[in-house]
Amino acid sequence: MENNSIYILAIESSCDDTSAAVLCNKTRLSNVVATQKIHEEYGGVVPELASRAHQQNIVPVVHQALAKANIDKKELSAIAFTRGPGLMGSLLVGTSFAKSLAMGLNIPLIEVNHMQAHILAHFIEEENNKTPTFPFLAMTISGGHTQIVLVKDYFKMDILGQTLDDAVGEAFDKSAKILGLPYPGGPLIDKYAQSGNPKAFPFPRPKVDDLNFSFSGLKTSILYFIQKQTKENPNFIEENRDDICASIQYTIVDILMTKLKKAVKKTGVKRIAIGGGVSANSGIRKALENAEKDLGWTTYIPKFEYCTDNAAMIGIVGYLKYKEEKFTDQSVTAKARYVINT
Ligand code: KG4
Ligand code: ZN
Repeated sequence: MENNSIYILAIESSCDDTSAAVLCNKTRLSNVVATQKIHEEYGGVVPELASRAHQQNIVPVVHQALAKANIDKKELSAIAFTRGPGLMGSLLVGTSFAKSLAMGLNIPLIEVNHMQAHILAHFIEEENNKTPTFPFLAMTISGGHTQIVLVKDYFKMDILGQTLDDAVGEAFDKSAKILGLPYPGGPLIDKYAQSGNPKAFPFPRPKVDDLNFSFSGLKTSILYFIQKQTKENPNFIEENRDDICASIQYTIVDILMTKLKKAVKKTGVKRIAIGGGVSANSGIRKALENAEKDLGWTTYIPKFEYCTDNAAMIGIVGYLKYKEEKFTDQSVTAKARYVINT
């Protein structure tokens, strides 16, 4: 084992995934995620159930992460954890666990902002991974977030725009629910959209200033549209499922791309890094591919494992902070609302 190796144990518990990872410098040795299935039957995350499940999962998940990394806890250099933003009850589990473990092992504690971690996930070292150079634009799109951030350096980030209501993943999931699809419906909309006509049903675009987003109006207009159509034809959804899904996806991707183009125009930065679960969407991937060809953008999409909520992304921030000796005091508390750079 090299002497200059830094081993970080990272813990993520901001929403409904309990995750622990071990990194050696910028390399991921393990990244264990326990996804809570319990929420599926409720059609969304139930905060009270999420915190209880974290409480059950955290010890076995950390054990697994250490075992997979083949590391003894005595070899760890520091413990990194998600301080926020997220669900308070969920954050408290990871925060308390990380604090106790760091105290027990007498090693530094490092707090991590979850949104910053989604962005810095691009710096986890992987084979064939191209890493963005500064400055770049980061768009984080998931079930909980929709943000465009100008990233000037690891810890110098400006939020250029964000959603004023629902996150983009929620727009996918809530639309899917209207169509009677199970939760989370985003991947199913993507699947059915493949064989549909994206221009079959035009949906209105939200009128939001600057680089902010709004998705609640789209959900309402889809609901009214479906209610009206099924009144006339009770089989409307079954008969038009693929076209409806393709039209919804086309609209959402168009909203995201319009804002990204605006952000490029405003900043002059053409390096675009995306993250979050919605990065898996084939429509947004295709649109970014086209932008590389047509607009000269360079785009970065990390491995899917690092797009969804995971502790490896917390670990890379832990490592970068460790290098700068940005340690956290034991008096730290979880922060449900936690803006990048505050
Ligand atoms: O990052 P993530 O796993 O969890 C958080 O929300 O933090 O993202 C999950 C979201 C869900 O809304 C899910 O429907 C959406 O990502 N999603 C997709 C696709 N895969 C996952 N949405 C559209 N198309 C997909 N292929
Ligand atoms: Zn997230």
